[in-house]
Amino acid sequence: MIENPGNKNDDLHQMNRSTRRSHVFFNEPDTAGLMHRAFTRSLGFDRADMNRPMIGILNTYSEMNNCHAHFPELVEAVKRGVWQAGGFPLEFPTISLGEIYLTPTSMLWRNLAAMDTEEMIRGNPMDGVVVLCGCDKTTPAAAMGVASADLPAILVSGGPMLNGHWRGQILGACTDCRRLTTEHRAGNLSAEEYAEVEENLARSRGHCMVMGTASTMNSLTEALGLSLPGNGAIPAADARRIRLAERAGRRIVALATEGLRPSRLLTRQALENAITLLCALGGSANAVVHLPAIAGRLGIDLPLDLFDEISRRTPLLVNLRPSGSYQMEDLFYAGGIPAVLRQLLPLLHGDALTVTGRTLAENVADAQIVDEDVIRSWDRPLQDEGGLAILRGNLAPSGAVIKHAAASPELLRHRGRARVFASVADLQTRIDDPALDVEPGDVLVLQNAGPVGGPGMPEVGNLPIPKKLLKQGVRDMVRISDARMSGTAFGTIVLHIAPEAAVGGPLALVRTGDEIELDVPGRRLHLRVPAEELTRRRADWRPPQPDYRRGYGKLFLDHVLQAPEGLDFDFLQGRDPVQAMAQPKF
Ligand code: FES
Repeated sequence: MIENPGNKNDDLHQMNRSTRRSHVFFNEPDTAGLMHRAFTRSLGFDRADMNRPMIGILNTYSEMNNCHAHFPELVEAVKRGVWQAGGFPLEFPTISLGEIYLTPTSMLWRNLAAMDTEEMIRGNPMDGVVVLCGCDKTTPAAAMGVASADLPAILVSGGPMLNGHWRGQILGACTDCRRLTTEHRAGNLSAEEYAEVEENLARSRGHCMVMGTASTMNSLTEALGLSLPGNGAIPAADARRIRLAERAGRRIVALATEGLRPSRLLTRQALENAITLLCALGGSANAVVHLPAIAGRLGIDLPLDLFDEISRRTPLLVNLRPSGSYQMEDLFYAGGIPAVLRQLLPLLHGDALTVTGRTLAENVADAQIVDEDVIRSWDRPLQDEGGLAILRGNLAPSGAVIKHAAASPELLRHRGRARVFASVADLQTRIDDPALDVEPGDVLVLQNAGPVGGPGMPEVGNLPIPKKLLKQGVRDMVRISDARMSGTAFGTIVLHIAPEAAVGGPLALVRTGDEIELDVPGRRLHLRVPAEELTRRRADWRPPQPDYRRGYGKLFLDHVLQAPEGLDFDFLQGRDPVQAMAQPKF
């Protein structure tokens, strides 16, 4: 048999060989080593391959996740890069969370995906890993998993879809799913036109192309130092996305040899950089859940007030829907995330280290802004403040979030009568009832849609405007809940109220007819009901019946943390020195 001769890169890795996990695995004495080598040969590889650093390629491809449809092509590109750099690539699957198909909400399984990622990295003898991600929950799950596994890792996203086009309009998934459905419900869009929208909305591979949760989290990987520059915005259908994947394959081999682990990248400074970018992008409020979860894996506290503090000092510079006018394809042509980061450098920790082995500032030193209407200059921001605010008050003692960049300015200070829905099912049953007693100035309240009550904190916080008000021309109302909302949605919507109603938070005590005060400039959310009355209501309150009594659902209900802690499981937070990755026990 003719052995693969290897290449000169093999020499590069000689000195680190004895400490490499794969080297230990393939060179175990006696039966163990024999089996490891013999069974690897059954895959068609030989000793020259086994002498190279083993690189895992974590593939979250699934036909039930449309956003990842092109991942087989990206895997091949990563493999090419790994071979070119002298590594030994092996692909492996984990669960894939597709936003469109999963019910009740993909968020229910984000922690399961993060556990799958962490444990498969820990359990297999790889020296480094490239993780493919893209759709909403897959990217935070990837970041959480690699943070806990703490093996050299690079995240490669699938990239956003191309812009949709319809009758001269640019369409965006899924800001326009909601906007045009609202117009259809209001009788302003015919069934034929609505069908045409379906045909033209999502016209390419990739994840949603407005600044929703997927675009937000994939952009933030650049600020976190977990991806190569350009990862956030290169469209999925652009060949530069394939070349980025190939570069990641080359770079991970060196990263594995250098031993640069996520725990050295995911510092408090890197997380603050991510929050600053989030605010300048007008990114998804879901990042306010995912970033604390990622930080928690490394024992870093990321309080809600830090988001507010950074948002107040960070201008909204990127003109993307749902807060602005453009979409991810336009952002890419305008210079992409590197150009945004370069613009933001005065507010960033530029010396934060990244997977390139260089600092964030070094990564973006040559980035150029090509279109100043998409990426604004400091003297022409879309808003002087970032897009997010953290609210507190007797309705949200542990905090609540509003994406005010996507809200109606005239509703940011508002008092109104509460119209309460006790659950998502109650909302769906009654919202379009012609007999519903509701006025345009009312505050729509949804209870029991949080981490435990949802369960999984579904994206239902953008309660639909009642049909009878839609017909009167109403397009926005103050809406409050303990739920999340899609990052592609818009409106004056208060989310993530904590503690949630299902665990006895004050939101559970609101009744129809109460007066609620929202004051975003004052960062206040207040229920104007006397304290004695609230005490009386609390005495009568009973928690809702749990949705799960067995299986993963029960594990979720028993261990999920509240929104400010990122909905991670309590037992997944922090680092465990006993599980350190330095050497495997084979
Ligand atoms: Fe995957 Fe929108 S459905 S990002």
